[in-house]
Amino acid sequence: MKLKKKIKIVISADGGAGSGKTTGSRLIAKKFGLELLSSGLLYRYCAYKLLKKNKFRNKKIFLKKIVKKITNKKLKNKNLYNPEVTEYTSTIAKIKFVRDLLRSFQENFAKSGKCILEGRDIGTVILPGAKSDLKLFFKCSLNTKAKRRFLEYKKNNKKITFKQVKNALKLRDLEDTKRKISPLRPAKGAVIVDTSKINIKQMSARLFHIVYVALKKKYGKSL
Ligand code: C5P
Repeated sequence: MKLKKKIKIVISADGGAGSGKTTGSRLIAKKFGLELLSSGLLYRYCAYKLLKKNKFRNKKIFLKKIVKKITNKKLKNKNLYNPEVTEYTSTIAKIKFVRDLLRSFQENFAKSGKCILEGRDIGTVILPGAKSDLKLFFKCSLNTKAKRRFLEYKKNNKKITFKQVKNALKLRDLEDTKRKISPLRPAKGAVIVDTSKINIKQMSARLFHIVYVALKKKYGKSL
């Protein structure tokens, strides 16, 4: 569905690790021609750079410099998904100055007015209230998401076990939910999308319907 030029919609999509928010956000972005920002990549990039350059002291000065130079290309680096980087990302994501540094990047991205941002705190902190027209919150049972991730990871790492994948997901969700600053939780008025018992086709249908309803609510007949 190609949206008319004048139609604007800003969507926030939050959820735990492996909840389906990235897949769901990609589907929405493609269907409605929206720009997509996976905000986790910003945190991952910071963690990756800190690890690579061994900058565990004076993080603030170092990150200030690198955040200014973030480009889409830099966020496509496959190393951002290394297990070590993934684990460290949740640690640095708890630090207030890290979140503050990445905030303006996300706010600027949303200025296009035709976009979807996915992460942990988009609907609650980055684009709360009227700053996003539609707030989605993805969830999925631990067992199901661990099964899905395990099959995915197994393609590249034959040695990985189901238990390792499940524990890593559980730990990350716990860290993201329990942290003091910007914890993972549904925004007020968020539509909950539970992906535990649905396949991708069913998820697309559900999501497209939700977005369509939000557009209808905003634009009525002029859609
Ligand atoms: O979504 P993704 O798995 O790439 O996120 C990696 C990590 O980045 C999360 O586990 C979380 O600790 C952090 N994150 C965050 N806030 C966001 C997006 C990601 O704290 N908006």
